[in-house]
Amino acid sequence: MNYTLKVAEIRQETEDTVTLCFRQPGLKKIKYEAGQYLTIILRINGRRYIRPYSFSSCPGIESFLEITIKRVENGLVSNHINDMVKVGDVIEVMPPMGDFVYDKEQPFEDIYFWGVGSGITPLISIIKYVLSVTVTVNVHLNYGNKNHESTIFKEQIEQLKSKYPDRFTVRHFHTKLFIDETNPHLIQGRIDQAKALQILDESLDEKKCAHYICGPTGLKDSVKSAILYKFGSLENVFSEDFELVKDPKDFIDVHTQKVQLNFDGKPYQLEVVKGKSILEAALNADIELPYSCQTGNCSTCKGKLISGNAKMIGLNKKRDDLASDEFLLCCSHPLTENVHIEILS
Ligand SMILES: Cc1cc2nc3c(=O)[nH]c(=O)nc-3n(C[C@H](O)[C@H](O)[C@H](O)COP(=O)(O)OP(=O)(O)OC[C@H]3O[C@@H](n4cnc5c(N)ncnc54)[C@H](O)[C@@H]3O)c2cc1C
Ligand code: FES
Repeated sequence: MNYTLKVAEIRQETEDTVTLCFRQPGLKKIKYEAGQYLTIILRINGRRYIRPYSFSSCPGIESFLEITIKRVENGLVSNHINDMVKVGDVIEVMPPMGDFVYDKEQPFEDIYFWGVGSGITPLISIIKYVLSVTVTVNVHLNYGNKNHESTIFKEQIEQLKSKYPDRFTVRHFHTKLFIDETNPHLIQGRIDQAKALQILDESLDEKKCAHYICGPTGLKDSVKSAILYKFGSLENVFSEDFELVKDPKDFIDVHTQKVQLNFDGKPYQLEVVKGKSILEAALNADIELPYSCQTGNCSTCKGKLISGNAKMIGLNKKRDDLASDEFLLCCSHPLTENVHIEILS
C-alpha cells in the first residue's frame, strides 16, 4: 500500500542538493530502518516516474522522514525535485525497502563507511543509528567530494564529531582543493585502493570490522580490492548501488526484438531495442509497469517468462530467490524472437 506524504520543510544542502522533509502520516506511521530507501512516484508532464531515494534521516532521532536528492546531469526527476517541489506539496511514496542496513546483534567493534557525493545519504542514516544505539562501536567515515562547498551534510558531520569525539572519525577526500598535508583528516584526491589500504592498516580483527560502501563503481571496486588484499575476504562488506552498471560485453548475444507482455489482464507488443531493458521499453511505450530500484534489488518489476529466452544483465547481487522462469525486467534483455512475459503483480 502506498502513502501520500506532505513536504514539511526543504533544506538546501549544497548548490545542487536538497533534502525533502516529510511529515509522518497522521494515522499509520511509516516504519523504516536506517539505510533503507523511500521510493517516490511523481507525474511530470503527464508521465509517471518512480525513483528510489535513501533516507538521510534516522528513525528514533529525526521525526521527519528525510530524503536528500542531488541533481544528475540531464536527470528528469532529480532536477524536477531540486527546481519544482515546494513546501506543502503532497507526494506519493511506496513503503520503505532495502537491505543496506545495520544489524546491531553483530559483534562489530569498528565500522568503516566509504562514500562519494550523494552516496552519503544511506551512510549518514546508518552512522547516526550506530552511534546512538551502541556505546563501544567505533565509526570511521571516509567521504569523497570535490571540495568543502560540495560536501553534503558537512555541518551534520561536524556536529556528530563533537558529540562523539572518541568514537567517530572522519576523513574528507577532496579532488578539487589544495590541501594542507599536515591535516590528517583532509586528504587530496580520490579514495583509491592505495589510500583505502593505508586507512585499513590501522584496523583491528577482520571479524570485528564491517564496511558499508555507497558510491560509483570506481569507489566500490577500489575499496573492495583493498579489503580483499588486507583481509583475504569480503565477508562483512555491504554496498548500495544507485545505478545499474552494464558491461557492453554482456550484450554480444542481445539483439533488438519484439516482446509480448501480459499486464493487468491486457496483452502488449513491444520493441525492445538492444541495450534497453524490457522495463525501459515498456515505460517508453507508456505501459505503467510496477518498479522501484531499477538496479535488480527490490523485485518490484518481477515477470514470469512464458516462452522464449532472456537474460539479466548488471545484477550485482546473487538472486537465488528467483525461480528459473522469473526475471527482473529492469535488467532483462530478450535473447530470442518469441519472448512472452507475464507480469506478476
Ligand atoms: C537504492 C537507491 C537509492 C538511491 N538514493 C539516492 C539518494 O539518496 N540521493 C540521490 O540523489 N539519488 C539516489 N538514488 C538515485 C536516484 O534514484 C535517481 O536514479 C537519480 O536521482 C537520477 O534520476 P533522474 O530521474 O534525475 O535521472 P534519469 O532521468 O533517470 O537519468 C538521466 C541520466 O543520468 C544517469 N544517471 C542516473 N542516475 C545517476 C546517478 N545516481 N548518478 C549519475 N548519473 C546517473 C542515467 O544513466 C541517465 O543517463 C538512489 C538510487 C537507488 C537505486
Ligand atoms: S525495479 Fe527493483 S528489481 Fe527491478
